[in-house]
Amino acid sequence: MPPVRAPTVVILAAGQGTRMRSRTPKVLHDLCGRPLIAWPVDAARAAAAARIVVVDAPARTLDGRLPADVEVVVQPEPNGTGGATVAAAGLIDPDAPVLILMGDVPLLSAEAISGLLEAHAASGAAATVATAILDDPAGYGRIVRAADGDVERIVETKAAGDADAHELAIREVNSGIYVFEGGALLGALPRLTSDNAQGELYLTDVLAILRADGARVLAHTVDDPLIVLGINDRVQLARARELARRAILEGHLLAGVDIVDPSSTVIDAGVTLGQDTVVEPFTVLRGATSAGSGCRIGPGTTLTDVRLGDDVTVLHSYAIDCEVRSGASVGPFAYLRPGTVLRERSKIGTFVEVKNSDVGEGTKVPHLSYLGDADVGPGSNLGAGTITANYDGVNKHRTTIGAGVKGSVHTSYVAPVTLGDRAWTAAGSVVTEDVPPGALAVARARQTNVEGYDDRRDAERRARS
Ligand code: UD1
Ligand code: MG
Repeated sequence: MPPVRAPTVVILAAGQGTRMRSRTPKVLHDLCGRPLIAWPVDAARAAAAARIVVVDAPARTLDGRLPADVEVVVQPEPNGTGGATVAAAGLIDPDAPVLILMGDVPLLSAEAISGLLEAHAASGAAATVATAILDDPAGYGRIVRAADGDVERIVETKAAGDADAHELAIREVNSGIYVFEGGALLGALPRLTSDNAQGELYLTDVLAILRADGARVLAHTVDDPLIVLGINDRVQLARARELARRAILEGHLLAGVDIVDPSSTVIDAGVTLGQDTVVEPFTVLRGATSAGSGCRIGPGTTLTDVRLGDDVTVLHSYAIDCEVRSGASVGPFAYLRPGTVLRERSKIGTFVEVKNSDVGEGTKVPHLSYLGDADVGPGSNLGAGTITANYDGVNKHRTTIGAGVKGSVHTSYVAPVTLGDRAWTAAGSVVTEDVPPGALAVARARQTNVEGYDDRRDAERRARS
């Protein structure tokens, strides 16, 4: 078998995506934590692309959204997939294969692409198109086979007028993924016309042109319906999400993660989870979230870009961009905000919010508290109703609490303020001044008891009536 030569990969992404009915460009819609366009870019990389070219629209909405090694060309007007390929022509090597991917076909696997490239290299065809047989082929281009089994042409079905009833009955569809010989593609592109129902240049017409030239055009039929799932509207996006979500969950299950209720669990593509970690129902793990082994996450927990060590428990909680180290426990009903570090074996309990704070090893904040911009040393215990007053209306200030501190219930720390190691606070204190190591801060009014108060009120009431 001839070796597969490294292809130039061209990803078409300049379409208007009108069927999405969205202000967001179609290929920037989210699929399991990454924009649609990131999926074919990764697939191209897995296919050992010599160069990756993305075709963008003149508004250049993809700027800043693509990896640095991806080259971007602009299609000056939205005149179809053929026009988009013409825009990339200057970067196509006539002596190498060209792999065309669609920016809106995200779920194709690296294996499917290498299978296509190998089939193309083995046959010596000028073009090979990846196809699939679908029960419901609606909306896709249909593969019209010649008597010899090769591809005669592809007929479009998006707009009425291109396909006849016989062609509409064909169930073999165009995935939109092709390999062309670079020179053959460059020779055919200038001959495309917009003489069709949509008045566009159809890339699909290149196949008929090549066959009419006497070149071979083959279909490589793939078994996997995922390869063809093109996203044109939000129904298809939802379907793709469901398929991708299941595949992601299965990957974790096979790797030793326990997902108690896959049907209520959402895990983004970039999430990593260690062995024997248990994900309880109604849990959403987003972005670059990671967890070590033996963690218990959920039920009812949402983590976005959160790093968990080993053996961490997070119950019924919501956390964004923070780090929870091994053995720590969070929740139920905690809210962890960006910049939070919970060190080893620390505990953040019920109805506790923590923002941009460092909570020391083994330190406990068990109930009804707010820590903002605080550094708390190891082995401290901050009682129910601990509040850092970190904001004076203009600036944020830090609260520094040492090691082994015993903060009593209902203590407010008015920042900037520092408590030394082994300091104590009395219940209900408003701590506005630094507390030396080992000292007890009592910062509240003394209690006064007014004797006989109730009798006096009674007497007053009787006198009035
Ligand atoms: C296209 C194919 C169809 C195939 C289907 C697979 C054509 C004419 N039709 O149809 O045979 O079954 O994909 O999903 O190729 N694009 C541009 N510039 C444009 C128009 C589109 O870059 O002017 C890009 C889009 O951003 C998109 C891709 O090309 O990523 C496909 O365009 P789309 O309009 O979705 O084509 P389909 O109707 O899906
Ligand atoms: Mg499409």
